[in-house]
Amino acid sequence: MSTEINGLDTLLMENRKFAPSDECKNQANFNDPGIYERAAKDPEAYWAEQAQHLTWFQPFDQILDWNPPHAKWFLGGKLNAAYNAVDRHRAGSRKNKAAIVWEGEPGDSKVLTYDMLGREVDKAAHVLQSLGVKKGDRVTIYLPMIPELPISLLACAKIGAIHSVVFAGFSAKALRERIIDADSKLLITADAGWRRGGVIPLKTSADDAVADTPIEKILVVERIGQLANAQMMPGRDVYWHELMGQAPHTPFPAEEMDAEDILYMLYTSGTTGKPKGIVHTTGGYLVGANTSMRSVFDIKDEDVYFCTADIGWVTGHTYIVYGPLSAGTTVVMYEGAPDWPNRDRFWEIIEKYGVTILYTAPTSIRTFMKWGPEHIEKHNLDTLRLLGTVGEPINPEAWMWYNEHVGKGRCPIVDTWWQTETGCAMISPLPGITVAKPGSATRPVPGIAAAVFDEQGNPVSPGNGGYLVITKPWPSMLRTIWGDDERFRKTYFGKFPGVYLSGDGARIDEDSDFWVLGRFDDVINVSGHRIGTMEVESALVDHKGVAEAAVIGRTHEVKGQAITAFVTVKEGVQMNTDLATELKQHVVEKIGAIARPEEVIFTAELPKTRSAKIMRRLLRDIAEGRVLGDTTTLADPKVVESLKDLYKHAE
Ligand code: WTA
Repeated sequence: MSTEINGLDTLLMENRKFAPSDECKNQANFNDPGIYERAAKDPEAYWAEQAQHLTWFQPFDQILDWNPPHAKWFLGGKLNAAYNAVDRHRAGSRKNKAAIVWEGEPGDSKVLTYDMLGREVDKAAHVLQSLGVKKGDRVTIYLPMIPELPISLLACAKIGAIHSVVFAGFSAKALRERIIDADSKLLITADAGWRRGGVIPLKTSADDAVADTPIEKILVVERIGQLANAQMMPGRDVYWHELMGQAPHTPFPAEEMDAEDILYMLYTSGTTGKPKGIVHTTGGYLVGANTSMRSVFDIKDEDVYFCTADIGWVTGHTYIVYGPLSAGTTVVMYEGAPDWPNRDRFWEIIEKYGVTILYTAPTSIRTFMKWGPEHIEKHNLDTLRLLGTVGEPINPEAWMWYNEHVGKGRCPIVDTWWQTETGCAMISPLPGITVAKPGSATRPVPGIAAAVFDEQGNPVSPGNGGYLVITKPWPSMLRTIWGDDERFRKTYFGKFPGVYLSGDGARIDEDSDFWVLGRFDDVINVSGHRIGTMEVESALVDHKGVAEAAVIGRTHEVKGQAITAFVTVKEGVQMNTDLATELKQHVVEKIGAIARPEEVIFTAELPKTRSAKIMRRLLRDIAEGRVLGDTTTLADPKVVESLKDLYKHAE
């Protein structure tokens, strides 16, 4: 979604308001509007109070040490994330409560109670230890959405090893790059995964990825059970089920982690071609994740909570694993596609397990709109009481549709704005307090100081747009970029000193509510997934026929944004459909299917300024059919006319 279009859209059209019902207010965990003011007055005290919902082996003696851009939270405190997510519930009344209700794509399913999950995590921690994994080591995890995925994360956390999850849809090359950057010794993967009934090989990608990397062992989960392509290399590759079978059934002692010890890193895209390893620490991250479960998701012991994200992204880390489990929640985890075997799979799952809270993405909602409400109407969704969205701005029409067809007009919707870097939801309604507006994430949650700044770093007045920033440190903020503190400093704190720059644009309305407009940097948001312009461009120019490439995100009805690639070829290379197809495939091999360009447009020239900078903004205008503004800075204005014409005939 282009910022301009979306901004105008919401600015002109939206004034509907949805206040919480009395029933919702009365039962909500957070229902005192005074909480915002109290938290704003003394955020440290607010967070220290929230931190009491975790179990600390040793209490912290200082809440915050802020040495911009570096924050330390809960200093002196000792805790373990896996202990908080699993073991502490085993000791109490939740021992036999369902922790993970897992639904496989082909229809198999599994329920792990907190006690059973704890036993699996302990065994897995023994296995990792037997493979030489120690506190502080990095473990790369490349798994489909199967129970072994959260178990692996938690086993790392129990030992104090740093997990680096790589989304299983990423290519071998992308995996390799992330393994090398993290300097991981162990890779956990599976033979393959299911997707729409088809088999997606993972072990073969893993094999391609690890050559000449620090990886010493590959731990292989057998998901499909037909290892035709997944050859095991003796001495390097070991089976998960074999080692788990041999592991001792004794409790694995939780490593006492310092609050500031690293819990995990997770790669995300930025302005340059190289993905950033976002670093999160144990105490602050867990406090943020846990607090938002209680405030934003109003979590109760009776809830059955379903987040449709993949654990390969931050949403799955925070809202499938650490948030819900640390709150003792029953989490539904689904392996596959929403339209497999039929377009009612999500609704079938909700009915089957009595889901009360659903958290999904605007792109999914728009897909459901396209498929039509009849798939939903086949199922009884009476158990639902709260809905959430994340990943990109939600257009008001999708919000209204979600409210009407899924929530039946009686479920509050929390539109949660946040990022890999922020660790947990930052701007969102609280369902028992906030008046929701379709398309607005409303206001920062208690304890978070967000603002919209103009170029000079002053807050904009109502009705205006600017840079979405966070002006004070918060517990679950990223601590650095793995191996590149300078990049961390420049990217996030380089524009306004001591203030976190999100990369998003936003507008503030008359009620001080926030309307997130989308990225203003070179990041494209395809179906809620962040993809760097430069990553796709480098993948394209890596092809032998390509001379130059410029990539933009254009508005797409379902995906939010789609990738359009403008390409010039080397002399003698034929510009035809075959080459376009080949280039798209090349990007898939380099990065993964999520980065596949929607269309490749061959052009003799790219529009450049006289200082030879590619004018991506202009390309986006062309792709979106907008009236073009000033093109006088162009080195060759004729280029535009021919591009407009080419675009009409794009593949
Ligand atoms: C976008 C996902 C508008 C935004 C949790 C942000 C949103 C990027 C919203 C982070 C929302 C996420 N409204 N935009 N509710 N939620 N975004 O790191 O552009 O994968 O910067 O984290 O998604 O994506 P990431």
